[in-house]
Amino acid sequence: MSDGPVDVTTTDAWKALTELRAGFEPDLRSWFADDPGRASRFTFEAADLHVDLSKNLLTDDLLATLLALAEQVGLEARRDAMFTGEHINVTEDRAVLHTALRLPSDASLDVDGTDVVPAVHETLAKMYAFAERVRSGEWKGVTGERIHTVVNIGIGGSDLGPMMAYEALEPFRHPEIECRFISNIDPTDAAQKLKGLDPATTLFVVSSKTFSTLETLTNARLARAWLLDALGDDVDAADAVKKHFVAVSTALDKVANFGIDPENAFGFWDWVGGRYSVDSAIGTSLAIAVGPEAFAEFLGGFHAIDEHFRTTPLDRNVPALMGLLNVWYVNFFDAQTHAVLPYAQLLHRFPAYLQQLTMESNGKSVRWDGTAVTTDTGEVFWGEPGTNGQHAFYQLIHQGTRVIPADFIAFANPAYPLVDASDGQSTDVHELFLANFFAQTQALAFGKSAEQVRAEGTAENIVNARVFSGNRPTTSIMAPALTPHVLGQLIALYEHITFTQGVVWGIDSFDQWGVELGKQLALQISPAVSGDAETAEQQDTSTQSLIAYYREKRT
Ligand code: F6P
Repeated sequence: MSDGPVDVTTTDAWKALTELRAGFEPDLRSWFADDPGRASRFTFEAADLHVDLSKNLLTDDLLATLLALAEQVGLEARRDAMFTGEHINVTEDRAVLHTALRLPSDASLDVDGTDVVPAVHETLAKMYAFAERVRSGEWKGVTGERIHTVVNIGIGGSDLGPMMAYEALEPFRHPEIECRFISNIDPTDAAQKLKGLDPATTLFVVSSKTFSTLETLTNARLARAWLLDALGDDVDAADAVKKHFVAVSTALDKVANFGIDPENAFGFWDWVGGRYSVDSAIGTSLAIAVGPEAFAEFLGGFHAIDEHFRTTPLDRNVPALMGLLNVWYVNFFDAQTHAVLPYAQLLHRFPAYLQQLTMESNGKSVRWDGTAVTTDTGEVFWGEPGTNGQHAFYQLIHQGTRVIPADFIAFANPAYPLVDASDGQSTDVHELFLANFFAQTQALAFGKSAEQVRAEGTAENIVNARVFSGNRPTTSIMAPALTPHVLGQLIALYEHITFTQGVVWGIDSFDQWGVELGKQLALQISPAVSGDAETAEQQDTSTQSLIAYYREKRT
């Protein structure tokens, strides 16, 4: 992989897309009316995911051109390079092998001369055994009591994945074990999450790939001090740390320095990016909450989509098609954002999770050979669960001036089937909910014309305000139910969408140098915040005056 990326803008397919766009007049109403096969032709299955792309600004011509683009940028070759462990994370000279974390135990994958699958399954077995001991109560705290609260301390990929999945899989949780997640270095986070906890029954999982992240180490020290203080002098401090702290990291030497027993540390590998690590030992708190069996099903879901992405021809390959459509919107419709709208309250943190996955991966201005990108790259991902979003920001998606492609996600079966039986009626509330899911994509696609508005007797002066243009692109993703297996599939789907976009743009979707400068400056500025005049004077005048304001007001 030493050659530079193809400059996508020089490909024939890019030129064809530019020409297509010039004469492109989206008309979803006519496209559907004139073509009864449109919905079925543009609906695809990937494992348990049923994905309807038909309400996108997509035509057969466009699809063919996007597929040509994929071919001309070498998407399949790059995908294969990822799956076989080539160092496609060029700027860090690393393989990119989160997909190896979910390979079955009888698979093998040689990376830089070693089969990584046995080590993956050894770590999983160790993590599962530990999770079982905590779940069964066999694992005891220093005073001999079983664990009732697991506090994951981590940030970014060492927080968002387990936290999002813990929320999503609430119906599968152990009834007597609660998880909490401390991530922010804002002391409020630790203070709030520790509030009300019994130290004797609390276990901390310090999760950090590097074990050098300021936030995580600071919070881990705060938690250790809290624990020892609350347990009092009757317990041996080293013993207490041993029984109430475990760690997940690639830096096991640093774990030992913190005082955590290396026996209680779970490793992973530098070929797993932080934002791709929920399926590694970073999922330890989740494995405790939902149990090894559910965690294994979760991994199986990832693997099912990995296999779909790896082996399905691109014209039916859902992550590839969704990634290519995203390129179409970003580069040819100037779409700056992409909404992800789960019609599942349990997925309320899924958009936040996707923000790191997509934006830390594709928010780049240089390509993987160090040259400048030749077109716009990563869009802003955002979202909230429906129907809450409908009563907040959907106005802008329906009638704003920008194109906002949106993914709608829903499940045939609710986690909690409730019936509204008041007033002598019996309404399945999930059906009311899903009616909204179906209605929104219909409204966005087909809109409401001025004639329709007038026909409702609307006063002429407000007709325009009540018109919906339609032709607002959406993808509908459905699955039978939100199970661990399906959640794994959804995450892997977005991982590979992100990968596809990165390949088209020629960027390294697996480094994250853009987070470094702020970290460095925070360390440099810190003495000024604490009153060091010399450091303060070295700052720009705006920063100096902000620090001065802080120091004046801080009581
Ligand atoms: O600063 C960004 C980042 O490096 C993310 O990529 C990562 O997920 C997060 O920090 C946490 O890193 P670590 O797991 O090493 O503590």
